Formats: sequence, structure tokens, C-alpha cells
Amino acid sequence: MTLPLVIGNWKMNSLVSPACDMARSLAHKLVAVEGVEVVIAPPFTSLYPVGQIIKDSKLSLAGQNCYFENSGAFTGEISLEMLQDVGCGFILIGHSERRSVFGENDALINKKVHQTLKAGLTAVLCVGENLAQRKADETFKVLEMQLSQGLAGLPGLSQIVIAYEPVWAIGTGVNATPQQAVEVHAFIRHYIFEKLGFSEKIRIIYGGSVNPENSKNLLQEKEINGALVGGASLKLESFCAIINSALEP
Ligand code: 13P
Repeated sequence: MTLPLVIGNWKMNSLVSPACDMARSLAHKLVAVEGVEVVIAPPFTSLYPVGQIIKDSKLSLAGQNCYFENSGAFTGEISLEMLQDVGCGFILIGHSERRSVFGENDALINKKVHQTLKAGLTAVLCVGENLAQRKADETFKVLEMQLSQGLAGLPGLSQIVIAYEPVWAIGTGVNATPQQAVEVHAFIRHYIFEKLGFSEKIRIIYGGSVNPENSKNLLQEKEINGALVGGASLKLESFCAIINSALEP
């Protein structure tokens, strides 16, 4: 059975003190929980203290972004070595906000994925179509592009997670239905297996307005191996409820 993966992406939210409180409470809540892998991605300023708090817990740490160079004159960027140094095991790459707000393209994203894997960390490659693309029936075409370019040149056994996050579902309160998500996940799985030579067992998680009300229906689908949660990961109750719904009944 595939171990479900639930990642809380805190985005640009929370100062150090509340981030530490949240991490402490969450680690405590997860003490007796088995059967789900839980990761949190706080903002950079909180990574070190949060990493210290959760280092002996069931929680893992993720960076929300990285740069592909190791060090040097890259003002404002953060290297994988730095992220690893503070305890990150996962890196989110190519989030739609990085693509749309900060202009990241597939070539840059591919370099980040390569460097993440080289550092021995797990790359969480985020892909997804926007509303206009979905309406124009271009969803699969967009995904093929993002996947073939984002994963170019990587060996099939790479430590990768794919996060399907339709842009129209992010922060809107309108989640993809389980049917919509399953259709796309199945497409992604088939595509990366048949065309790109990756394992069929790669975890494909869903993100976009996941909340305690819709998480059970989404996560009970075999095709959906977990969730990438934004807003609802900022509150202990809602995030724990989502984590619980990833567990076997
Ligand atoms: P929301 O859960 O707030 O829609 O955000 C999803 C997301 O972008 C997670 O990376």
C-alpha cells in the first residue's frame, strides 16, 4: 500500500513564535498516529526553529522553494545545502504561485528538481492548469509540457512526488471534485510511466482548496495519494482533520 502524504504549505504566513507553537502542537497530536506521512513547509524564517522542534517527531520539514546553485552571489535566494542544514527533507518546486507571480518556467524548475535530487532530498513537483486552459480543454496538454520539461533528464527511480494543483482551485474554495482529480492523476501516472519511464508507484497528491469537509472524499480515492494543503494547514484543527481523513477507515 502507498503511504499517504499530507503536506501543509504555509506559504508567506506566520511569524516564528506562532509557527513554533503550531509545529509543537502538531508533533504532539501525531505521536500515536500511524499510516500517514506528514510534512510542513513553513516560511524560511521559521525553518530552523521549527526543524529543531520536530526533529524527533513524526513530522518532516519542507522548503517552499530553492535555488539550484550551491552558493554565491545570488541575493535573496536559498540553496539546497542551507535547506538541508536546517532539516528539510522535501522541497516544493514549481508551485503555481512561483510560476505565475515570480515567472518561473519549466527549464528553471527542471534545474531545481535536478539539484534537489542530487542533494538527496525529495522533490515535490507542482503542476496544474489554469481556468482558461481547462475551459479550452488544454489540461492534458499543459500537464504533458510541465511534466516532460520539469522531469527532463531524470532517472526513473527518482525521489519525486507530483502535486497536482489546478490553479483554479488554489485559494478559491472551489476544489476539484474527486472525479476530476482522479481523471488527472490517472493521466499523470500513465504519462510519466509510459512516456517518461518513471515508476507507477510515484505518489501523486492533490492540492487546491482541500479542507476537512472535502478531504475524505478526495483522499479515499486510490489514485489520490495525499494532499498539498494551503489555507487549511494553518490551523491545527483543520489540518489534523485532513490528516485523519488520509488514514484508512
Ligand atoms: P489552498 O489549500 O489554500 O487552496 O492552497 C493550495 C496550495 O497552493 C498548496 O500548495
